[in-house]
Amino acid sequence: MRKQTITKAVIPAAGLGTRFLPVTKASPKEMLPLVDKPLIQYVVEEAVAAGISQIIIITGRGKRAIEDHFDISFELEEILKNTGKDDYIRDLRKISDMADFCYIRQSQPQGLGHAILCAKHLIGDEPFAVLLGDDIVDNDVPALKQMIDVYERTPAPIIGVQQVDPSEVYQYGILDAKPALDELYKINHLVEKPSVEEAPSDLAVIGRYILIPEIFDLLEKTKPGKNNEIQLTDALNDLTALRTMYGYQIKGNRYDAGDKLGFLQATVQMALKNSNLGEPFKQYLKKLAL
Ligand code: G1P
Repeated sequence: MRKQTITKAVIPAAGLGTRFLPVTKASPKEMLPLVDKPLIQYVVEEAVAAGISQIIIITGRGKRAIEDHFDISFELEEILKNTGKDDYIRDLRKISDMADFCYIRQSQPQGLGHAILCAKHLIGDEPFAVLLGDDIVDNDVPALKQMIDVYERTPAPIIGVQQVDPSEVYQYGILDAKPALDELYKINHLVEKPSVEEAPSDLAVIGRYILIPEIFDLLEKTKPGKNNEIQLTDALNDLTALRTMYGYQIKGNRYDAGDKLGFLQATVQMALKNSNLGEPFKQYLKKLAL
């Protein structure tokens, strides 16, 4: 079998979670539980299911719980062993054994582009994936796997997109692009969080990217843009000027779990799909006089 070319993924997790205050005042938003797993575990599992073996998480102050979650909990395992709960230990070990985890601290939140640049020295000279933890995509074939399969056939930078309602374009990077082969769009240009009037389409960037190391050179030259942050979108625009770059329409139900309403929707859907809780939760929902 041919060796997969993309084995490293960067997960930026240094953001302050201002859309989810007050719960994010002292707790990382990435650790908010979707049923019984923190948001970031869904994203890591998606990456691992897509063949990724090295996960690079960009953290910041107050994010220690993320490192603890993907580490072995020695004290907890001792207690579980002494009380005969070996099954629990096996389940917990699956979390820390999933991949090799590396952490880089971004000392100041300076934007998504800057967060990704922090991983430059760990990526080296390989294509790599970026997954944003706010975007939870539910599909039998994980979103990143869909994109890596496309990359193996068409080795070029690829950005995951989905169509959004025009009233929502202001929340996303929006593509100016033309349909190309195999569910791909050839990107001409990207506009970060445009107004409805400025938006070149309704194709929104959702948080999955396959990038090439050249992006780091471009990020190093990128000046602070929208919101005075180093925007990945600006560096991607520079990359489109040099290389063919595609948008790929991701299949699956996508939730913006960094937003309170999106998080509630994701919670209901994931709870309904849960093998233990799904049926009793459905019965409960049916009883609600909505
Ligand atoms: C970031 C990107 C934006 C993209 C979005 C997807 O924005 O800058 O282009 O559409 O993620 O979730 P953020 O949501 O971090 O403000």
